Amino acid sequence: MNIKDTYINFFENKDHKHIPSAGVIPENDPTSLFTTAGMQPLVPYLLGQPHPEGTKLVDVQKCFRTNDLEEIGDTTHHTFFEMLGNWSLGDYFKKESINWSFELLTKGFGIPVERLAVTVFEGEGNIPRDEESANIWKSLGIKEERISYLGKDDNFWIAGTSGPCGPDTEIFYWRSEDPIPQKHDPEDDRWVEIWNNVFMQYYMHEDGTITELSQKNVDTGMGVERITAVLEGKDDNYKTSIWIDVINKIEKLTGKSYNDENYTKAMRIIADHIRAIVMISGDDAKIKPSNTDQGYILRRLIRRTIRYAKKLDIDINTNWDKEIALMIIDKYKNYYNELERNKDTILEVLQTEKTKFNRTLEKGLREFEKITNNLKEDTINKNLAFKLYDTYGFPIELTEELAQEQNLKVDIEGFKQKFKEHQEKSRTASAGKFKGGLASDGIIETKYHTATHLLNAALKEVVNKDVHQMGSNITAERMRFDFSCDHKLTDEEKQQTEDLVNKWIEEGLEVTNEIMSKEEALNSGAECMFIEKYPDEVTVYSIGNISKELCGGPHVKNTKELGHFKIKKEEASSAGVRRIKAILE
Ligand code: ALA
Repeated sequence: MNIKDTYINFFENKDHKHIPSAGVIPENDPTSLFTTAGMQPLVPYLLGQPHPEGTKLVDVQKCFRTNDLEEIGDTTHHTFFEMLGNWSLGDYFKKESINWSFELLTKGFGIPVERLAVTVFEGEGNIPRDEESANIWKSLGIKEERISYLGKDDNFWIAGTSGPCGPDTEIFYWRSEDPIPQKHDPEDDRWVEIWNNVFMQYYMHEDGTITELSQKNVDTGMGVERITAVLEGKDDNYKTSIWIDVINKIEKLTGKSYNDENYTKAMRIIADHIRAIVMISGDDAKIKPSNTDQGYILRRLIRRTIRYAKKLDIDINTNWDKEIALMIIDKYKNYYNELERNKDTILEVLQTEKTKFNRTLEKGLREFEKITNNLKEDTINKNLAFKLYDTYGFPIELTEELAQEQNLKVDIEGFKQKFKEHQEKSRTASAGKFKGGLASDGIIETKYHTATHLLNAALKEVVNKDVHQMGSNITAERMRFDFSCDHKLTDEEKQQTEDLVNKWIEEGLEVTNEIMSKEEALNSGAECMFIEKYPDEVTVYSIGNISKELCGGPHVKNTKELGHFKIKKEEASSAGVRRIKAILE
């Protein structure tokens, strides 16, 4: 059975629209590095903005969690994973949601009802005990002793600390050969969670207060790796159909056996990490290895993969990594066609970073050995850790991992402090280098940021006053701007938009900002993407009298700083959303 297709078809048959996965790098949310749940790209719609595909959606979303990178190598953790989900955006609620989950699990997936248990919210503060969900479960044949009522820590779901949220009901499966107990025991980890249905009817504000949303939503999430292991009866994710061919490939490349416990962990890490590398570098955000943010995670993943490949005696200079990456691209391209489109980029990222690291890895490992042989205490000091980083390209986490293997510690705090000093020094140096006013940190990005406001205003004037910004993404090389629009722009519209932006740039309009209450801002006609995301006091940026937007800045002082604006491309982004790529020259 193809689990992803079975899930998606099931909900399509219940009138859900299948939407493509959003990027694993979030487009509209500068506060998160990665998409960590299926609902994350849907936040505006959970808050009430109409979704172009309607009120019932289903998808499989690319997700990424890096909080436990060091745990990778066991049977269940992954950096990249996929989440199946179905959503009601102010449409159906608890009854349909629970009924359909039950139907898919028992009929679609064929799970016997005896193996299922559920948890529901026991109530807290103003939010009542969820008897409604419990009663629906009972009506479907789930026995009372298989329903546990739990508190906020277990049965109330929110991404982070503020945003849409609500009580949830979680579904558990008895994953053991042992006799199935009558009563569900939430502490017994032979019961594994396979699906979470969140009833999102609240909004948690930064200050911890909770208010009702304008609509009642359902947000569900089912991890593909977990449900596959359950349905295929495997106690090791890497033995399921998701991974087994990748593991076999690594066995073939190394001539070693996965069942030999000297090699199991290394093989899992290589499999997991190369899939993650493919997904980050194959995302349309085109992240490259670097020393910050997502680029740093990508770098760490590649370097860690190479170190583990060495443990399997792989000749690093051969094409082992490419072969595994191609296999993964092939497995996933039907769901994420950007992988096919960005194939060359993925392979180039791997090759370049590998070559770079491989030059210094051997020497670095020898240096590490020297350090540990001469160590008089049980801690690698900040200077040694920094040398490994600076001279041999060892991410601090790698040094820490190597140290742990020998029961040694690393002065991480000291390293961080040294790292910061070093950064400041090189920043001053590069500021000196660019003294002519050429590139320096953030200036180009700031210009692009102001240009997005001008473009937003120009599109409203040229195309339609109902055009709204749906997202943007800025690098030092270009800007990308997504907006709601039901048609491909004509050449004339593109030209007029470009001309209007350039006219405003030439006019040298002042960019000013003012702090006011959110209400005042909205009454003054200021634009904003997601009003709920802003605090009560907001900053409103105005450009002459042509644009007014809620925004955190920063911006240039005058539009004439922008130079010349040019639209490079206009294309579809998703249904009802167009995308413009533009540059300043
Ligand atoms: N958003 C919920 C989760 O990630 C469904 O578990």
